[in-house]
Amino acid sequence: MSTVNDLKAWQQQAQAQTELVLERVLPAAASVPATLHEAMRYSALDGGKRLRPLLVLAASELGGADFNAVEQAMAAIEMVHVYSLVHDDMPAMDNDSLRRGKPTCHVQYGEATALLAGDALQTQAFDVLSRPTGLPAARQLKMVSVLAKASGSLGMAGGQAIDLAHVGKPMNQAELEQMHGLKTGALIRAAVALGALCCPDLGEEDLQRLDQYAAKLGLAFQVIDDVLDCEADTATLGKTAGKDADNDKPTYVKLMGLAEARRYAETLVADAVALLSPFGDKACHLRQLAEFVTARKH
Ligand code: IPE
Ligand code: IPE
Ligand code: MG
Ligand code: MG
Ligand code: MG
Repeated sequence: MSTVNDLKAWQQQAQAQTELVLERVLPAAASVPATLHEAMRYSALDGGKRLRPLLVLAASELGGADFNAVEQAMAAIEMVHVYSLVHDDMPAMDNDSLRRGKPTCHVQYGEATALLAGDALQTQAFDVLSRPTGLPAARQLKMVSVLAKASGSLGMAGGQAIDLAHVGKPMNQAELEQMHGLKTGALIRAAVALGALCCPDLGEEDLQRLDQYAAKLGLAFQVIDDVLDCEADTATLGKTAGKDADNDKPTYVKLMGLAEARRYAETLVADAVALLSPFGDKACHLRQLAEFVTARKH
């Protein structure tokens, strides 16, 4: 039986691995143009829960994964996520000054550099993902396509567009679910899919089941993000608390209240965990990460 401490140890080790891989693949701070590279490293290194790379790793434990492909996918998805955060914080979007306990990228380096740091993190993620591995080229091409679709207008960027278009406007549950599923769920689904695609042993049915798990988890993750925005303080969050209410954002808390939103997330996580049962013990970290999503304090 795994314990809470086992998860903590695994999580810390996986976070350290993520840090090392990112450190390795990001351009050196001194290479020209130095300020841009500094801004990319400032935003990507030394911070965050690393949930998406951890999901890649946990999914890759389901069978026979290619080690290099897993590490490249861990770095690539985190780089896309970090790019999304850098742009999300900019004045034209959420206008936030604190991220991961530090001044946001545009506050530290200026808006033009933050814009470019996000652009460069995004494109470099695909360079990293397409470097040679032991997987068949067609499999790797599929992984590139999965990450590209999840990041674009039918994924994260599309969800962000819906979010911005609905400032100050009411949204019903179906609309919110679509928005959250895109702006946050798409990359979480991609993380699980990338980890699973590193495992040549997994079949189409396994991939579909894992996607159902990830869709529920992704939605739960953003519901809890909305809850924590109201419940937690700025120091704990490492980002400005109460920002959604200040910006008049549509959230699950606004729709159903704090207690009901948390209950909804817990139901989604229970459903997600139930979907993992055919995988047995191999899915223990996927199971524990799902529980972490509702238990987290930031
Ligand atoms: C914050 O993501 C933005 C959302 C998509 C909700 P995380 O809560 O995963 O942020 P970090 O990576 O831990 O900083
Ligand atoms: C952000 O949602 C989703 C992204 C794609 C970055 P939020 O705007 O709620 O994320 P936070 O709360 O600023 O981290
Ligand atoms: Mg936002
Ligand atoms: Mg934001
Ligand atoms: Mg938020």
